[in-house]
Amino acid sequence: MKKLMSILIVDDELGVRESFRLLFKDAFEIHQAASGREALQAFASRSIDIVLLDIRLPDTHGVALLRQIKEVDPEVDIVMVTAVDDQQTAIDAMKSGAHDFIQKPFAIETVRALVHRVAEKRGLSSEVRYLRQELTRCRPFEKMVGQSQAMREVFDLIAAIADSDSTVLIQGESGTGKELVAKAIHNQSPRRDNPFVVVNCGALPCTLMESELFGHRKGAFTGAIADSAGKLEVANSGTLFLDDIDSLSVEMQAKLLRTIQEKEFERLGTHRVVKADIRFIAATNKVLSEMIEENRFRQDLFYRLNVLPVHLPPLRKRKADIPLLLEHFLARPAGKRGTHGKRLSQAAMEALMAYDWPGNVRELQNRCERWCTVVRGDLIRLRDLPLHDFKSTPRGNGSLREAVQAFERGFITEVLESVNGSRTKAAERLQVHRNTLLAKMRGLGIGFPLERTK
Ligand SMILES: Nc1ncnc2c1ncn2[C@@H]1O[C@H](COP(=O)(O)OP(=O)(O)OP(=O)(O)O)[C@@H](O)[C@H]1O
Ligand SMILES: [Mg+2]
Repeated sequence: MKKLMSILIVDDELGVRESFRLLFKDAFEIHQAASGREALQAFASRSIDIVLLDIRLPDTHGVALLRQIKEVDPEVDIVMVTAVDDQQTAIDAMKSGAHDFIQKPFAIETVRALVHRVAEKRGLSSEVRYLRQELTRCRPFEKMVGQSQAMREVFDLIAAIADSDSTVLIQGESGTGKELVAKAIHNQSPRRDNPFVVVNCGALPCTLMESELFGHRKGAFTGAIADSAGKLEVANSGTLFLDDIDSLSVEMQAKLLRTIQEKEFERLGTHRVVKADIRFIAATNKVLSEMIEENRFRQDLFYRLNVLPVHLPPLRKRKADIPLLLEHFLARPAGKRGTHGKRLSQAAMEALMAYDWPGNVRELQNRCERWCTVVRGDLIRLRDLPLHDFKSTPRGNGSLREAVQAFERGFITEVLESVNGSRTKAAERLQVHRNTLLAKMRGLGIGFPLERTK
């Protein structure tokens, strides 16, 4: 069972302590102190999340005590309870690190809403802390994150094959991280201090591709105005990454095959044979076996390349990676040094988990960058996501009942978010009785955070 958060109530009046206790006893673990000394004692012996701290205490001033408590635990959230006519003290308290303050006499609902808001924030930040720890644990190779079973297997495979010189073929849909895997293999390999060279096989027409790979001597063809080294030569003693290998013309496939087999090549227009000490890694987002059947890809080249196959599953098949990737890309937005990361509301996270991510990790990364730029504040909510993309569409293979429930869950969560979690307002919008809404939420398992007031 999840551990309850704890509240320490510091007030010398028994009546005040008791009314706070009654208010929070169901949702929190309660501790009490009647003086500054007792408060510090409580701190020394227990883990406290939130403190409700009266400003007037018999043995000390509330703001002084606040500073002492903050020294013991800078992360604790302290809500000061001040007198209505003592604005200056409230200001001092905020400057000394109080989270918020309430003024006596206070309305019970205000106190309840405030404390629940603090608790919700703490819940999220401890979740973020947990995810950060997970990130360092689940990132065996710099920049690559993943905790799904599938990605753990990929990480193990990378570690296992890095030392070898055998050719690797990485297959996976666009945006699944093929280039990242190729770099990780190189960086783990004994060749790591030598070049990692990328050739994009789809980028150039055949004649230029040949010169790009093999290099040429001045005058070897029209336009060859100077001697030029090809990518093979540059990659010698390192790794050559042949990206989008499926786009290579059939003619170039034959030439590449010869180089890989014979482990040598020559510049165009020369007869000087260069020994190739190159580790080849190829990648494709096509299904090569289909292209072989259609005679668009050479089977012999496929076998040469596919000595060590690596398959990168699409993101929708390893959803356990989604929260970690979101944290990774939201915590430090690319190109925005100095900016604080953003968090996702629970409803937004649920929608992103339900989404299929056709563009895989690249799509997720791009969307995160966008949210970091356009969303104000540090919380990304369901309403910040483009609804036509993320509204969960019930799949066709479930029962009608499941489909209706999925719709209801999505719809109710969305409305709750639009009214800051207020059940009363949500019920009004939905035109149902508040109790009906509460029953529905229980039935559908919607654990929306408690009401927040502005
Ligand atoms: N596991 C991961 N952890 C962190 N970032 C990742 C991960 N996988 C992919 N990325 C990031 O997603 C983006 C796309 O990855 P990459 O370029 O390697 O995909 P690809 O499979 O080569 O796609 P394409 O077939 O379109 O070339 C890159 O910015 C990459 O850094
Ligand atoms: Mg790529």
